[in-house]
Amino acid sequence: MLNKSVAAAINDQIAQEFYASHVYLSMAAWLETQSLVGFAKWMRLQADEERVHAMRLFDFVLNNGGEVQLQGIDQPPTTFDSPLAVMEMSLEHERGVTATITRIYELALQEKDYPAQIEMQWFIDEQSEEERVVGDIIARMKIGGDSGTALLLLDGELGGRPAATGGGE
Ligand SMILES: [Fe+2]
Ligand SMILES: [Fe+2]
Repeated sequence: MLNKSVAAAINDQIAQEFYASHVYLSMAAWLETQSLVGFAKWMRLQADEERVHAMRLFDFVLNNGGEVQLQGIDQPPTTFDSPLAVMEMSLEHERGVTATITRIYELALQEKDYPAQIEMQWFIDEQSEEERVVGDIIARMKIGGDSGTALLLLDGELGGRPAATGGGE
């Protein structure tokens, strides 16, 4: 049986994952208006992945005798300053998620809730991966600087991202 305070924290995390999905979908829409179709596709897949994260926690709560309590989703930002600003906001968001995941892990340790601890371990790995991938895209955008050619090359590459297979990638 899931510890009550851990269950409450995971329910908050479910809301945060759905919000992340919403933010990324909003970013995808904006990127598409900028004709950066590769970035837009990459961001749509990112939105899908966040939904998968939310559902993974949703199932975890149910499979461990907890109660799922869905929350409202805030409106995400709808306009952005630049493609680089989008990716920087995305990294900032991921860092915030890493911080909340880490807090749930600590809570699970404190409450000796081992299934939750194991589940959070998966998310800690996933966050390392996401921060690394987004950080790498930002670094390459900075190398490209103001070059439209560099941006379009990266756009073509990001557009080749395969659809998620249900986990970290
Ligand atoms: Fe996530
Ligand atoms: Fe994420």
